[in-house]
Amino acid sequence: MNLNIVCIPGDGIGPEIVAEAKKVLDKVAKKYSHNISYKDILMGGASIDACGEPLTDEAIATAKAADAVLMGSIGGNTSTSPWYKLPPHLRPEAGLLKLRKELNLFANLRPAYLYKELKEACPLRDDIIGSGFDMMIMRELTGGLYFGARSTKEVDGVVTAVDTLTYTENEIRRIAVKGFDIAQKRRKKVTSVDKANVLDSSRLWRTVVEEVARDYPEVTLEHMLVDNCAMQLVKDPKQFDVILTENMFGDILSDEASMVTGSIGMLSSASLNDTKFGLYEPSGGSAPDIAGKGIANPIATILSAAMMLRYSFDLDREADAIEAAVQKVLEEGYRTIDIMPQEADKRDRVKQVGTAVMGDLISERI
Ligand code: IPM
Ligand code: MG
Repeated sequence: MNLNIVCIPGDGIGPEIVAEAKKVLDKVAKKYSHNISYKDILMGGASIDACGEPLTDEAIATAKAADAVLMGSIGGNTSTSPWYKLPPHLRPEAGLLKLRKELNLFANLRPAYLYKELKEACPLRDDIIGSGFDMMIMRELTGGLYFGARSTKEVDGVVTAVDTLTYTENEIRRIAVKGFDIAQKRRKKVTSVDKANVLDSSRLWRTVVEEVARDYPEVTLEHMLVDNCAMQLVKDPKQFDVILTENMFGDILSDEASMVTGSIGMLSSASLNDTKFGLYEPSGGSAPDIAGKGIANPIATILSAAMMLRYSFDLDREADAIEAAVQKVLEEGYRTIDIMPQEADKRDRVKQVGTAVMGDLISERI
């Protein structure tokens, strides 16, 4: 198969972790006889520095022509980087938001999974962790507060800022369908998260999700208010299978869920449209404090590459091979610094390695 992939190394640790994902993809291509062609585009701070804007039209066109996009991370330190002195539409995030919108990437899948090998990294008590947890956050990605009209102006002498939260029934329906489709292949439970006790957009969300649920009789649907969900994620994360929610709630809850696993450096993500096209990126950020040190964890990016093979190319066997290789290196005790056990007495059971060695170890096990 020919795989035409556009890479966005981006900022901070992005280039280092994307390099390791490519290493692993190249090994997969060799072993299973595929042809991968890569093209890099700039986005975020790297694009601001080179082109004066966070994403050029040319870069968007290149991404659109690809089969899939593999991204590292974008942005820098929001209090010290000169990028954050620019007007909002010229800052690094604006590039990512524009790309999501231009490519119509409305479905964001963020798995949050507890590796049993990394149980010590989980901040929750053993009785709460139990036999572990495995959830998929399905976040709507191109609507809501992120893309509604906004303004800051003086009204009757008082500076007033407005952000608008809009959802159409069609936008809700298409993400709900994806959520139920995925739940059907998992443990068949959807928790739809909203704030229907206050917001109209949430009441519409609930109505449409219930309509969609009728087409999936084997899937159990429950509704949960977002504040309660934030609490339940630390109280009893085992209860969740698929969490289906709107853009802003999903942004917040997915960070919380990733922290609960104790290892944001392990979590992949996919942003999909109606076709097989997708953008794949680690859930973590650009970590400017450790950029260039060769210590970042490349596993989330490597697992995002596995998601890409699965969702954009239907290469399940190849995706399984990457996931099994990651599992193997963890079982063998290799760890990057972020997933080292906190207690000193547990550290001699594992071996600390850097970014490139972790990439080598995983690709050798494909
Ligand atoms: C994320 C990030 C982005 C978001 C930022 C960088 C705009 O936090 O992907 O979760 O809020 O969607
Ligand atoms: Mg976020």
